[in-house]
Amino acid sequence: MSEQLPAWSDKFETGIKVIDRDHKTLFEEIGNLTDALVRDQSAAEIEQAIICLETYVMEHFKREETFMIQAGYPGTEEHLRTHRAMQRRVRCLRDIYRKGDERIDPVKLGRFLNRWLSGHIMKTDMDYVPYLRGEKDDRIPDQTARLNDVSVRVPENKRDIVERFVGILISDDPLAKELSSLVEAFEERLDEKEMTDARKLFCQE
Ligand SMILES: [Fe+2]
Repeated sequence: MSEQLPAWSDKFETGIKVIDRDHKTLFEEIGNLTDALVRDQSAAEIEQAIICLETYVMEHFKREETFMIQAGYPGTEEHLRTHRAMQRRVRCLRDIYRKGDERIDPVKLGRFLNRWLSGHIMKTDMDYVPYLRGEKDDRIPDQTARLNDVSVRVPENKRDIVERFVGILISDDPLAKELSSLVEAFEERLDEKEMTDARKLFCQE
């Protein structure tokens, strides 16, 4: 690959050994995958590299999330949202590859993954470091239950309808079943949209 992508360096160090080791490995996994694509290795080897990356991303996110929750890091909820979005992107990558109807561009993929990881470490991960070190006072103790709460800010004129829909969705009302099927159908459309976005990010034009 002619383009020089960011690799692991000291500037990415959080000083937390387990996290730094994970981040180093993630840079390596991204490198392994893009190399496998550039060298046009067998489908089994490329799929293996995708699965390795996907698994490591999940394991690493889980580790970070446990640390953040234990440390009472107040930005946990937002950080978790960023992780989920990335997990969905990697899942789309695996699905695109398995479908096999489009060719993944190693340069585009490497650029996206590498930039995401570098930016995420420097901006998002660095923010929790002082909390993990116990250097901050504004900790949120016992936030596990809170993470299951859903809170959304809605415009005044949408508030009633959102409350009514959520109320029905979590009730025993016969309409709840109907609403659930509509939501499921909509989820499929959301998945399709994510796949379209991922194709634009990862595949050859
Ligand atoms: Fe993170």
